[in-house]
Amino acid sequence: MSNSKEEAKKRIEWLRKEIRRHNYLYYVLNKPEISDAEYDELMEELRRLEEKYPEFVTADSPTQRIGAPPAKEFKSVRHVKPMLSLDTAHTEEEIKAFDKRIKKEIGDSIEYVAEPKLDGLSVELIYENGKYVRGSTRGDGINGEDVTENIKTIRAVPLVLRSDEIPVPTRLAVRGEVIMHISDFEKLNKELIQKGEETLANPRNAAAGSLRRLDPNETAARPLDIFFYEIMLSEGYEIKNQWDALHALKKWGLKVSSYVRKCRDIDEAIEYHGEMENKRDRLSYEIDGVVIKVNRFDYQEKLGQKSRSPRWAIAYKFPPRKEETQIVDIVVQVGRTGILTPVALLKPVDVKGVTVSRATLHNEDYIKQKDIRIGDWVRVARAGDVIPEVMEVIKEKRTGKEKIFRMPDRCPVCGSRVVKEGAYYRCTGGLSCSAQLKRSITHFASKGAMDIEGLGGQTVDLLVEKGLVKKISDIYRLKKADLLSLPRFAEKSAENLMEAIEKSKSKNLARLIYALGIPNVGEHTAKILAERFRSMDKLMNASMSELISINEIGPETAESIINFFKEERNRKEIKSLKELGLKMEYEEGERKLKGIKFVFTGALKEFTRGEAKSIVEQLGGEVLNSVSKNVDYVVVGEKPGSKYDKARAMGLKIINEDEFKKLIEK
Ligand code: IVH
Repeated sequence: MSNSKEEAKKRIEWLRKEIRRHNYLYYVLNKPEISDAEYDELMEELRRLEEKYPEFVTADSPTQRIGAPPAKEFKSVRHVKPMLSLDTAHTEEEIKAFDKRIKKEIGDSIEYVAEPKLDGLSVELIYENGKYVRGSTRGDGINGEDVTENIKTIRAVPLVLRSDEIPVPTRLAVRGEVIMHISDFEKLNKELIQKGEETLANPRNAAAGSLRRLDPNETAARPLDIFFYEIMLSEGYEIKNQWDALHALKKWGLKVSSYVRKCRDIDEAIEYHGEMENKRDRLSYEIDGVVIKVNRFDYQEKLGQKSRSPRWAIAYKFPPRKEETQIVDIVVQVGRTGILTPVALLKPVDVKGVTVSRATLHNEDYIKQKDIRIGDWVRVARAGDVIPEVMEVIKEKRTGKEKIFRMPDRCPVCGSRVVKEGAYYRCTGGLSCSAQLKRSITHFASKGAMDIEGLGGQTVDLLVEKGLVKKISDIYRLKKADLLSLPRFAEKSAENLMEAIEKSKSKNLARLIYALGIPNVGEHTAKILAERFRSMDKLMNASMSELISINEIGPETAESIINFFKEERNRKEIKSLKELGLKMEYEEGERKLKGIKFVFTGALKEFTRGEAKSIVEQLGGEVLNSVSKNVDYVVVGEKPGSKYDKARAMGLKIINEDEFKKLIEK
């Protein structure tokens, strides 16, 4: 080697080591020694040298985090041990009961480790001889998705473990949580709004969505972070308890929360929970509780696990976050079947990073029970962290000016009479009520129903408002010119929608029955009805006793079917749909794959995964994500993943795309 080349090699090695050291200082110890600009300079120098001497580029170089090509699909990888869930507790009593169960099994002196419960998505990482080799998501708990390249783009993930304090295991499997910091989440959402894309509901969804991009370069562009909390396997380095595990992780350069605590007994763990609840608002990321774990591994082993969760750990959740705001007004929304739902309009308030300005009040009883009035100050929370709910009224803040809300006796949209049915109020306007019409049509066109792509909520609103669609069958009377008269349509989009409408005519009977939106008739019931009656005519004229003689159909569903077809308006609509060319008969073979289970691996030439899945499901079959002995066919396309090897090893029936096509042919 020439002198200058020799020197470049040395410099490259030095730079890599130095960059790794600064990563460790920054991510793990939180004590950076240099500025971001200085760090960038080191990276830039390394990049330049590697460009000049590509023969010195190694997979674990800090420059190699990005650039992997997009994947067609994520391969499936088996976890070293199943990824379990945690039992949850919400009260101190539940935690004490947990402690009692453990003491009964182990004895009186139990040490715990308490950690923040991070709200992200869990991943498993494998290091071999200190080098990062694989990363996977939870998947079904047994098999995860191989996201090796995506995880590599997370800067806090070391590609090489540190070995200066403790030896590095020959094989190490660790688990941790990938998260997005709240500020990064907010910034990302702002960018998405600017680009006209849909925003993400919360940092957890943002982290999950970002990590699971098929193109790792897209993941690289998203600011993700990670915290580690479990060692599943450490060959060649023995660890005896969780506390030591957390310290070993740190010494290898794997970031651990700085809030972990060793607790001498359960009372200390309960105290920790209280402290963390107070701190939670000051953290830069979301935590939704704390995890309490028995410290000693031999005790953990003795305690064992239930089917899906260990007996030695529990998640002690925080109560949902509540924010105070005022009800400006209560309005009424009209659903597809005419049910009126009262909705509180709120002074916008930030609840866990999401601006909330409306909250459902469910029905009149709910309002009465909580004595909710217009003008009230209330506490709102996001139930299940998604749908905003009014939790309670702050009665001390009442001024006497609050107004009691009453359900209207006329529909606020169409003015028809409103009738009371049990706890609910219903508009009697049927499809002459534009709110009901809009929702019925959106339902009719939705994915599980007639699957008319391009006929979503906003387009439906326009069509109804312009008077172009007054009943469902009008969809099939639309002309291209009608669509072109709408603000959202151009030549191409109008053509596409016309085509999608035409294509929907050949959808099967089960979908059509479901699409009609008969109350209580979901996708599953619709399939049963189609199979049993085999034609719309027969179903329309079915008697009560015929209907309830079917196993899965109860009297309530039977009654709504009878009532639906009793209405002249509905009978006329079905006649129109038939004349317009929709399929009213059950086709033999429609459910010819009934009960048959498929797994797909590799790329098919003629179908996307989604298309293949929907065909199988339409024919009554099922598509599973991973191979097991329950699988009937494994369909193998180009570049199959590990599922193929596994299927072969298990002796499952393997078919190619042509054979699959034969199976689904009518
Ligand atoms: S330990 C047996 N520790 O919570 C499962 N999990 O509900 C042991 N999580 O799948 C997991 N922070 O995604 C553990 N400090 C922590 C955690 C944590 C968040 C997540 C993890 C797990 C889920 C279980």
